[in-house]
Amino acid sequence: MDPRTVLITGCSSGIGLALAVKLAQDEQQRFKVIATMRNLAKREALEEAAGDALNRSLEIKELDVRSEQSIRDCVDSIPERHIDILINNAGVGLIGPIECQSIEDMQGVFETNFYGVVRMIKEVLPDMKRRRSGHILVMSSVMGLQGIVFNDIYAASKFAIEGFCESLMVQALMFDIHLTLIEPGPVVTEFEMKVYEDAIRGDYSKADPETADLFTHYYLRNSKAIFSSLGQTPDEIAEHTLRVLTMETPPFRHQTNQVYTPLTALKYADPSGHLVNDVFYKIVFQHDTLMQASLRAIKLLRWKVQKVQQGAKNLGFL
Ligand SMILES: NC(=O)c1ccc[n+]([C@@H]2O[C@H](COP(=O)([O-])OP(=O)(O)OC[C@H]3O[C@@H](n4cnc5c(N)ncnc54)[C@H](OP(=O)(O)O)[C@@H]3O)[C@@H](O)[C@H]2O)c1
Repeated sequence: MDPRTVLITGCSSGIGLALAVKLAQDEQQRFKVIATMRNLAKREALEEAAGDALNRSLEIKELDVRSEQSIRDCVDSIPERHIDILINNAGVGLIGPIECQSIEDMQGVFETNFYGVVRMIKEVLPDMKRRRSGHILVMSSVMGLQGIVFNDIYAASKFAIEGFCESLMVQALMFDIHLTLIEPGPVVTEFEMKVYEDAIRGDYSKADPETADLFTHYYLRNSKAIFSSLGQTPDEIAEHTLRVLTMETPPFRHQTNQVYTPLTALKYADPSGHLVNDVFYKIVFQHDTLMQASLRAIKLLRWKVQKVQQGAKNLGFL
């Protein structure tokens, strides 16, 4: 079978980079990857990671999801504009008290995380409909299912794209097009570093002292602990995505981190919202010591599991 053409956005780092490399280096050569990034000056890391696959099964092109022209130019440069799989990965974060964020900053998040995906889908959907085949994936987040304190705008952008995809899904089915939302929990990438560094430099004078203190002391410290104990690697997300891509009937939603599944299910257990709000309030503000201890225990357990898996691999069992 001919390899399937996959276009991925945001491949200069993190999940996009890992995914582009994983698909391009597929032993069964099932994919031809068009790895895109908005700034080609950042291509070096991808070129290095791609190794032999570069310019064979992986091609790098420029694409900025905030520009319709940039998207059109990139898609037009692909023979017959033929894209079998579109992976909307590009995304930006924003954390902090909303009193301290400008409307322009908030709109910027939606321009990339929501309208960026909408622009991409608008560009490739008509071709996929004509061919009556295709698979569109969106790198959403567990924050597309459950809001998290001080991530108000980022979560809203992911909720928005989830609602968009839920609505489009039924129409896509009519044309044999698959649509999948990948929903990772925390992933250790530059994403976390970028938002964290912005947050450290932030000016919180527009927030009242109590809110500023909750964010800078409570939230930032806990967020660091959560990433270091529950965070997955970009490669793990790439592995999950590969699995989804090769399924005969891909799921509409796929969560990559099982620890988060019960938390995202709470709101459905009690439609009034009391249960989920109560649980999050207590976890964040009342049982801080217990949460820190649990995170440390999880980190230790994951480290042990990784050691056992590595040992089994070395002995040839995996
Ligand atoms: N890290 C997490 O904890 C986590 C968890 C759940 C979901 N996600 C989602 O996973 C996706 C990838 O994030 P990541 O963790 O891999 O972060 P990352 O390392 O910061 O990668 C984000 C990528 O998006 C690109 N990008 C930003 N704006 C763009 C634009 N206008 N046009 C094209 N590309 C653009 C960035 O390019 P530049 O280098 O040019 O900025 C970068 O290549 C995002 O959608 C994010 O929301 C991340």
